[in-house]
Amino acid sequence: MSIRMTARTIDGKAIAAELRESIKREVEELRKLTGKVPGLATVLVGDDPASHVYVKMKNRACEQLGIYSRKVELPATATEEELLALIEKLNSDDAINGILVQFPPPKHVNKEAVIRAVAPEKDVDGFHPKNVGELFLGNEKVLVACTPLGVIKLLEHENIDVAGKEVVIINRSNIVGKPLVALMINRSATVTVCHSKTRDMKEHARRADILVSAAGREGFITADHVKEGATVIDVATVRREDGSLTGDVLFDEVSMKAGAITPSPGGVGPMTIACLMQNTLLAFKMQNGVGDFSARR
Ligand SMILES: NC(=O)c1ccc[n+]([C@@H]2O[C@H](COP(=O)([O-])OP(=O)(O)OC[C@H]3O[C@@H](n4cnc5c(N)ncnc54)[C@H](OP(=O)(O)O)[C@@H]3O)[C@@H](O)[C@H]2O)c1
Repeated sequence: MSIRMTARTIDGKAIAAELRESIKREVEELRKLTGKVPGLATVLVGDDPASHVYVKMKNRACEQLGIYSRKVELPATATEEELLALIEKLNSDDAINGILVQFPPPKHVNKEAVIRAVAPEKDVDGFHPKNVGELFLGNEKVLVACTPLGVIKLLEHENIDVAGKEVVIINRSNIVGKPLVALMINRSATVTVCHSKTRDMKEHARRADILVSAAGREGFITADHVKEGATVIDVATVRREDGSLTGDVLFDEVSMKAGAITPSPGGVGPMTIACLMQNTLLAFKMQNGVGDFSARR
């Protein structure tokens, strides 16, 4: 009779706290060395309540780590030209090393234009085509999207090597799936990407040594989707009607089959914010020609 073990839970909150601690120490060292600290500008257009919460969390994280943060808010009626002019000003502001425009912007604002307006060296979200292109060319000494970077850091922390492994990613968005594909193939994983047009997604998922799910659907990944002993990373954040948060993965049943698993919340989410802080620090170092940014990963 075989004894079934439950999966190891990958504690994203604790791993993110470690990363934040090391960023805090480095910010303090750099302050002593240069007399300056990294600066992040958060730009919020309109009054979407969820966006306000996200921006607040990012500003609070800056405060805790000794990073200067500037909150810039524009009314929902602000034009695209006004927003682009603001970004242009921040691009040439020496106190600001990173610019984050909270998405989604109002409907009348072209998202692509906003992404392209942020100077690539201040693009702490890692969305600019220059940074995405470099990443796909195998150059990771650029600013890389925070959530996929957080996934890689979780795996590294847990000593889960991706080289030669079957990695299945359920998501093809520009902020999660696509940059994660690049990070995975740069590390020699064999990658399959699934999306809403994929035929028989379960068959793909069941082959995965590492399954990354970001569909944004509660209960989407059951034990039946998971190979015995696989690593399961739940990127999704789904808000239930009662206000509570969950992910794609049925945690309790999948835990009985997986080898390692992230909870949601408490997995990838905290890593995303920690990686944003790390990108702000990296942008500061690149712009000031100090510190060792090649050793960040
Ligand atoms: N933890 C964090 O910090 C963090 C950061 C970013 C995002 N997220 C979460 O991650 C999730 C995805 O975010 P996103 O911005 O990438 O959203 P998105 O653009 O809506 O992407 C969802 C992806 O899932 C695919 N999908 C949806 N239903 C599917 C189905 N039935 N079968 C197969 N694939 C399916 C979609 O396919 P199509 O492309 O064909 O539509 C799409 O590629 C959300 O829950 C979001 O809250 C979390």
